[in-house]
Formats: sequence, C-alpha cells, structure tokens
Amino acid sequence: MQPKDRIVVALDVETPAQALSLVEQLCGLVGMFKIGKQLFTAAGPDIVRQVIGRGEKVFLDLKFHDIPNTVAAAGVEAARLGVSIFNVHSLGGSAMMRATVDAINDAAEREKLIKPLILAVTILTSHDQASLTELGIERSIPEQVVHLARLASAAGINGVVASPQEISPLRQAIDNPSFVILTPGVRPTGAALNDQKRVMTPGEAVKTGADYLVIGRPITSAGDPAAAAQKICEEIEQAVA
Ligand code: C5P
Repeated sequence: MQPKDRIVVALDVETPAQALSLVEQLCGLVGMFKIGKQLFTAAGPDIVRQVIGRGEKVFLDLKFHDIPNTVAAAGVEAARLGVSIFNVHSLGGSAMMRATVDAINDAAEREKLIKPLILAVTILTSHDQASLTELGIERSIPEQVVHLARLASAAGINGVVASPQEISPLRQAIDNPSFVILTPGVRPTGAALNDQKRVMTPGEAVKTGADYLVIGRPITSAGDPAAAAQKICEEIEQAVA
C-alpha cells in the first residue's frame, strides 16, 4: 500500500459544502474520506454518493449496533451506496456480525456489488475501567478489546478500529496478517493533540501494524490541508523506509 492510501481523512464538518471543499483540496493526496454520524445526519446518503461520484473512497463510520437483521440490512445499503469500508459494534454480538457478513456476501454476488470491508469497533476509547465495570464488564480493557476482536474475526469481519495502544496486542493475538487495523488517535510530529490523549505519530502507527490511519483535524483544520496531508505521507514513507 502507498503511504497516501493509508490516510483516511475524517470529514467531521457540518455541511456538504465544507465536506466537498475538503475533498476537492485533498483528492489524489489521501486514500479515503470518513463520513461519520455528524455529517451523515446533517447531509444524508447523498453526501456519500457525491464523494464517491468524485472518484474518492468512503469509510462510512456509523458504528451499526442493532439486531442482526437490521444491521445486516443497513450494511447492504452501505454496500449499495458504494462505500469501501463500514463498521459495526462488536458488542452487537457474533450472530449480528455473522449475519452482516453473510448478507454482504449474498448481496455482492446477487447485485454484482464491490464488497466493502466490514470493521468492528471493540471498546470505545472514551471508556475507562470504571465505566466498563458499571456496564457489568469485568475484564480489563486490553483483554476485552482482544476478546471482542477475536469474536469479530471468527464471525468473518475483516478487521477492527483500534487505538494506537491496541495495535500491538491485537497483532499478537490475531494470527491473520490480513486482519485490518484502522487507527484513529494519530498525530503527526509536532501537531496539536486536540482532545486526543494517547497518540502515535503516523509512522509509529504504521510500523506498529496499523493498515489505515484516521486523521481529522491535523489535516482538516490546517491552513493548507493538501500540504498537511503531503507532509504526513512523507512522514510515513520515512518511517517505513
Ligand atoms: O480530528 P481527529 O484526528 O482527532 O479525528 C479523529 C476521528 O476519529 C474522529 O472522527 C473521531 O470521531 C474518530 N475516532 C477517534 N477515536 C476513536 C474512535 C474514532 O478519534 N477511538
């Protein structure tokens, strides 16, 4: 994979116009754009179609969590939109994840769709040990993350969304090099942390075993987003050289 193909830019903006302006500035310089709950709720599936219509790839970050039939059907709609990646919550359970994988396989075959990668969210990084205990989860966070990633892998899910600290334990626990790890919490050398607490640089994250890096504000809030993206590509290139 080229360094630029690893970069997924988070389009955490309010309007389709802001999103499309970033896409115009960054097209050809990054691999994918992440559309999450904010932009999707404001602008609907049309913004997904518009970004894909410009020849770009989309990661639809809606973290589906519902009964198996509902998540599977939503996943099929994501595939019909043409997204390259979408995600589900592993806490929805094995049956939900398996139903989604099966539904995507069937729809891809039947409707000649390109199969998106399906990733699982394990434990949100906003949780700490106390908030897990409150939910009745007794394992430590790292153990629970690995446990849920194993469930996801066994259900046929392609990979996980994982914080930088989780990359190494996951690579050790899951004996499948094509298991995809997508990592937010990435900050280029010298960039503002914003509200991210435990970060890695893009180069460190890739060297540790991340496939894709979700990067938002260091690119989208930069005076020159294209230059910021190019600098991150160079940083990755140097780190892996
Ligand atoms: O601007 P920044 O680079 O912090 O954006 C990171 C993106 O990744 C945001 O869209 C955020 O919601 C998402 N994310 C995260 N940490 C997680 C999961 C997702 O920052 N654990």
